[in-house]
Amino acid sequence: MPPANMPPRLEVRSLMRRFDGRAVVDDISFAIPQGQVTCLLGPSGCGKSTTLRMIAGVDMQDSGEIFVNGALICDTVFRVPPERREIGLMFQDFALFPHLSVAQNVAFGLSGSSADKAARVGDLLERVHMARHRDSYPHALSGGEQQRVALARALAPRPRILLMDEPFSGLDERLRDDIRDETLALLKDEGTAVLLVTHEPHEAMRMADEILLMRAGKIVQRGAPYNLYNAPVDRRAAAFFSDINVIESRVQGALAPTPFGDFLAPGHSDGTGIDIVIRPQHLKIDFDRAGRGPNPTAQDGTPARATVKRARYLGRESLVEFRMETGQILKASVPNVFLPKPGTVMWLMLRRDRCFVFPAKG
Ligand SMILES: Nc1ncnc2c1ncn2[C@@H]1O[C@H](COP(=O)(O)OP(=O)(O)OP(=O)(O)O)[C@@H](O)[C@H]1O
Ligand SMILES: [Mg+2]
Repeated sequence: MPPANMPPRLEVRSLMRRFDGRAVVDDISFAIPQGQVTCLLGPSGCGKSTTLRMIAGVDMQDSGEIFVNGALICDTVFRVPPERREIGLMFQDFALFPHLSVAQNVAFGLSGSSADKAARVGDLLERVHMARHRDSYPHALSGGEQQRVALARALAPRPRILLMDEPFSGLDERLRDDIRDETLALLKDEGTAVLLVTHEPHEAMRMADEILLMRAGKIVQRGAPYNLYNAPVDRRAAAFFSDINVIESRVQGALAPTPFGDFLAPGHSDGTGIDIVIRPQHLKIDFDRAGRGPNPTAQDGTPARATVKRARYLGRESLVEFRMETGQILKASVPNVFLPKPGTVMWLMLRRDRCFVFPAKG
């Protein structure tokens, strides 16, 4: 952790960018301390790359300021050119120079004596496990290997800040997790402040110290991955991280009645529509025991009868779809193998501490 009185490595204040009169980046502010990885997470078109491009200096904001180590590098009148910002870039199309070897690619942005350069290149190639490819040319490398070289090249000049725009998107899922973990270890070793853009919640959860959840140009929620997953600000934020079940209700006397008993809905006036949201892995399932049913704890609320509609085995978990007596379908995810036959009667419970209560949208 950097000392508390140190200015953040990167800070943006009230960044705005309009295209054709539409605010694509709409009053964005955040700060990243040294050694922290912050993920800008959001759906396609929400303004992530535009934000990154302004920080890199390849696009210019309409208003707002950008600071590095507490010093202004860009507002609407003053502007440090991109090449003098000491900000490293790693974008999805991280093109390596095709006519340079791996070692020459990594050495490209380095200054200093050739002995120093060789040491830095050797060290980085070792750490991205590409030392034995040092004399290869990019065309002879796999996508994952090229990505590792691109990372080494971006980090070689020891940028204070690294901006990464969907850097792992060209890779298959298994390889991606390995490269993500290795990249993270290397970034932490170097103490680089990182802004990583992604539309994949899994990637953000795996990489980020802090997630900035973006929607239509605004940051709608920010915090540690745990907080975004377990305390989403609204239904859409909950749905961004996993499948969700939504049970609709209408408030009567500060309570929202459901097949699972009444939920507290303080602060919502009578007649207000309420969505009770729960992730599939937080549905509790119990057997019917010849009609005797379950034995819920206070946490579980009222059990409701449901019939198995379909069950599928997904490897790490099984996904079971239930039809409620109201006709609603609820999805439960259960670790390992759990494949009850369609038509089986079971009981479902919603752990109250796992439910989110939101006003209904619209
Ligand atoms: N130069 C431009 N001129 C006009 N509109 C633009 C320009 N650049 C971006 N936009 C628009 O701004 C919006 C945000 O684009 P941006 O590239 O920042 O999205 P993104 O969040 O990075 O999306 P993705 O996940 O698909 O990469 C989009 O609607 C895009 O069409
Ligand atoms: Mg983008």
